[in-house]
Amino acid sequence: MGLWLTLLSWNMGLLVIVLVSDGAIGCLEAEKVALLELKYVLNSLNGTILPSWNDDQSDCCEWERVICGNTTKTKQVTQLLLNNLRDSELINPYWSLNASYLIPFLQLQVLDLSWNYITELSTLSKLEVLDLGNNLLTGSLPESIGNLSTLKALSLSMNNLAEPLPSEGGICKLKKLQDLDLDHNKLPGQLPFCLKNLTSLRNDIRVIDLSYNGILDRFPNWLLKNNTRLEFFGLGNNYLTGPLELNCTSRYIDMNTLDVSHNPIKRDIPPCIGFVYPNLRVLNMSKSALEGIIPASMGDMGLLMILDLSANNLFGQIPKELVIGGKSLEFLKLSNNNFSGPILSTKANLGLLRVLRLDNNHFTGKISDVFMNSSLLRVLDLSNNHLNGELPGWIGSYQQLTSLVLSQNSLQGVLPLELCKLNRLTYLDLSKNNFTGTLPSCFDLLNLRYLHLQGNQFSGPMPIALANSSLLLTFDLMNNRFSGEIPSWIGTFSNLRVLLLKGNYLKGSIPIAICQLRHISILDLSHNNLSGNIPSCLNVVSSGLLDPLDNILFGEYFIMVPIKFPKYLSDNLIHVDEGIDIRGLVSDEEQDVEFMSKRRSESYKGNILYYMSGIDISCNMLTGPIPPQIGYLNSIHTLNLSNNNLSGSIPESFSNLRDVESLDISYNKLSGHIPSQLIELYSLALFSVAHNNLSGMTPESKYQFATFGPSSYEGNPLLCGPPLQGCTFGTATEPVIHSDVEEESNFKDNFLWSFAASFVIAFLSVIVICYFNPDLGSRTFPCMFFV
Ligand SMILES: *[C@@H]1O[C@H](CO)[C@@H](O)[C@H](O)[C@H]1NC(C)=O
Ligand SMILES: *[C@@H]1O[C@H](CO)[C@@H](O)[C@H](O)[C@H]1NC(C)=O
Ligand SMILES: *[C@@H]1O[C@H](CO)[C@@H](O)[C@H](O)[C@H]1NC(C)=O
Ligand SMILES: *[C@@H]1O[C@H](CO)[C@@H](O)[C@H](O)[C@H]1NC(C)=O
Ligand SMILES: *[C@@H]1O[C@H](CO)[C@@H](O)[C@H](O)[C@H]1NC(C)=O
Ligand SMILES: *[C@@H]1O[C@H](CO)[C@@H](O)[C@H](O)[C@H]1NC(C)=O
Ligand SMILES: *[C@@H]1O[C@H](CO)[C@@H](O)[C@H](O)[C@H]1NC(C)=O
Ligand SMILES: *[C@@H]1O[C@H](CO)[C@@H](O)[C@H](O)[C@H]1NC(C)=O
Ligand SMILES: *[C@@H]1O[C@H](CO)[C@@H](O)[C@H](O)[C@H]1NC(C)=O
Ligand SMILES: *[C@@H]1O[C@H](CO)[C@@H](O)[C@H](O)[C@H]1NC(C)=O
Ligand SMILES: *[C@@H]1O[C@H](CO)[C@@H](O)[C@H](O)[C@H]1NC(C)=O
Ligand SMILES: *[C@@H]1O[C@H](CO)[C@@H](O)[C@H](O)[C@H]1NC(C)=O
Repeated sequence: MGLWLTLLSWNMGLLVIVLVSDGAIGCLEAEKVALLELKYVLNSLNGTILPSWNDDQSDCCEWERVICGNTTKTKQVTQLLLNNLRDSELINPYWSLNASYLIPFLQLQVLDLSWNYITELSTLSKLEVLDLGNNLLTGSLPESIGNLSTLKALSLSMNNLAEPLPSEGGICKLKKLQDLDLDHNKLPGQLPFCLKNLTSLRNDIRVIDLSYNGILDRFPNWLLKNNTRLEFFGLGNNYLTGPLELNCTSRYIDMNTLDVSHNPIKRDIPPCIGFVYPNLRVLNMSKSALEGIIPASMGDMGLLMILDLSANNLFGQIPKELVIGGKSLEFLKLSNNNFSGPILSTKANLGLLRVLRLDNNHFTGKISDVFMNSSLLRVLDLSNNHLNGELPGWIGSYQQLTSLVLSQNSLQGVLPLELCKLNRLTYLDLSKNNFTGTLPSCFDLLNLRYLHLQGNQFSGPMPIALANSSLLLTFDLMNNRFSGEIPSWIGTFSNLRVLLLKGNYLKGSIPIAICQLRHISILDLSHNNLSGNIPSCLNVVSSGLLDPLDNILFGEYFIMVPIKFPKYLSDNLIHVDEGIDIRGLVSDEEQDVEFMSKRRSESYKGNILYYMSGIDISCNMLTGPIPPQIGYLNSIHTLNLSNNNLSGSIPESFSNLRDVESLDISYNKLSGHIPSQLIELYSLALFSVAHNNLSGMTPESKYQFATFGPSSYEGNPLLCGPPLQGCTFGTATEPVIHSDVEEESNFKDNFLWSFAASFVIAFLSVIVICYFNPDLGSRTFPCMFFV
């Protein structure tokens, strides 16, 4: 009794204490009295809080911020949520709580005293579990924590502790400690060797979690040694260097979770790992610069459920021992390594597999040889490898599949009809292969949100069955051989944000139905054979800021895994949000975003378009005037109408395009004057009206317009004024064409930078090629494009 835990350095922090006790007394009288006493101290000196707590006939379980449980015959207080009660208005808000006030609450499990100006807290001698997780505690761990000699579990995870652990005393004195959670802080420096005292003396430490800190130096192999009862060891997301050393003659049968991910370990995985930790269920060594091969002994880990070795420099084949022995595997991620050979060297025994991500490696062989008997598979990502052959019909047997990503391989042939059976698919990416033929007429995937088929040789019309995919967010058929008209059912994709039909053989007019796409952000119909007028209703295209898509989860599922303390509040569930991985896909450092500019494809690393908006209908055969309504797309960034047969004048309403950075209406038959108001487009970085029949004066060479060279205006014989030379007002002559190479590269930099600034926020997982009017310099093949 009478122990004091001084929390002076933690004042105002959030406190959650979990007390473990047993016994059974009714709330009613004893707890009611105790609550009223608590109210009294909480109100010192002049507070007026908790008015509903009254000494009347009311049931105290009904009082605000009191939660009772019914574990015994009578209801008893189990939770007191007393956060944010004391405020700075009080005469003296600073406050210390004598924990004897808490003794009457025998069933109390959760005590939340966050944000209450607490400076001191006396603790109970019986305290076994102290959970101060997920708070705002800063500074260092107080020395006096070592006084809590009965403590078995200590959690300070998710705070801002930022001083190195002391080299002696403190937590090293907690001789009964079994669970130590200091993850998600800012603990710097080295781990004190005194931690060894926590462990080797008694051998009953179960959990050590120091992940997400700033711990430096060599990997603390000493902390692993001799801790025979250790179950959970988390050191991920620190700055530890290798090697990871294991004593290959000892076995640690209790160890179930080892996470050393995201450290610059840079060495091999110890070959005996499967022997030393035979019962591991979770192994995460991703992002650790590991070299070498996957040890065959991993096949001996008969209980392994989650294996994440992604983003290392591992090579060789997936060992057949793992493919055979991995019968418990539910999640296997080997993405972004240098693996080669066939994907599965032998008949797989992976019946529980739900997520298989082998993307960005050098796997070879026919995709038809990949068959795994895993009917639970939800996510299959084999993209960016060297797989070939046709997509086999057995793909239809993966009925649970939500994400199928096979892009950037050398797959060919027509799509099997069985693909239509995958009606849970939300994400289908077959882009950049060599698929041919028409899309199956049965292709009505009701849950599809992302469809990427770009860069293949698909032909024929778009099957009407697609119209049933009404949840589509991105629809990318770019650079194929689709023909026929743009179907009017496209208007039923009411959530669509990205529509990419560029580079096909589509003909007919742009359907009015396209104006029903109220959330469209990127519309690229360029490089087709479209004719007719531009629909004047296009101004309803919302453009501009989009809502985040975070309510849309993909491949999300739960795996039962052993989970570390605290057990009281959460189930033994780990939430694996993989799969489509819309965020993963774009935020992985390896992912590029391609921007097409000046006929050069610019790879742009980082995140992609969130509130980007652009319309590109260039390189078609569109006729008629530019509808003035287009000028009211006032948050649009890119507008490309070039290389059509548009006539009439440039609408004055274009001066409303405040955010436009690229405006290209070159190579048309536009006539009349250039509206002088255009100089108010301060964001403009690319501007071209070249090769039309415009006349009159060029806009005043002011603001952004001072940066445009003659190439922006050339090819308009009747146009006059700077930067064109050799003409005087009223007597236009052929302008002199300047070399503007330098200007171009400046533009490119500016342009990409402005994109970088504007479009940092990730969401749409497409690799969108935002195609701007190619080339203002050389004039050959204006509508040629490059994949
Ligand atoms: C507690 O309440 C829940 C829901 O009201 C009920 O299902 C459960 O049986 C109760 N437990 C006891 C021990 O009375
Ligand atoms: C407490 O007293 C202070 C100083 O007199 C006053 O400013 C504040 O409003 C009072 N607060 C309450 C809740 O009465
Ligand atoms: C806490 O309260 C108990 C009972 O009211 C009292 O005996 C004890 O001295 C108090 N402790 C401190 C440090 O004030
Ligand atoms: C708590 O620990 C501090 C520092 O380790 C020590 O000075 C103090 O005497 C201890 N308090 C009690 C009540 O044991
Ligand atoms: C470990 O504990 C022993 C005895 O309790 C003590 O002598 C020793 O200094 C401690 N080691 C470290 C590194 O703190
Ligand atoms: C492990 O335990 C053995 C004896 O059980 C002891 O000799 C050895 O020093 C210990 N190793 C470490 C690193 O504590
Ligand atoms: C390895 O473990 C064995 C058995 O537990 C033990 O005898 C040996 O001393 C350990 N070796 C090292 C280097 O710790
Ligand atoms: C493995 O660790 C990395 C980096 O810490 C993390 O991003 C990833 O989600 C982890 N994998 C799993 C399956 O939890
Ligand atoms: C990947 O493997 C190939 C040969 O298989 C080798 O040439 C290349 O350097 C490796 N790349 C890395 C990053 O290890
Ligand atoms: C797939 O596994 C099931 C049981 O999990 C088994 O009945 C079936 O024969 C297996 N099929 C193949 C082709 O191995
Ligand atoms: C695609 O297929 C065509 C015809 O079968 C072939 O000429 C071409 O090389 C293939 N392209 C790729 C990238 O495999
Ligand atoms: C779309 O779905 C409805 C109901 O699920 C179905 O009746 C209809 O045939 C489907 N249309 C196409 C074109 O597949």
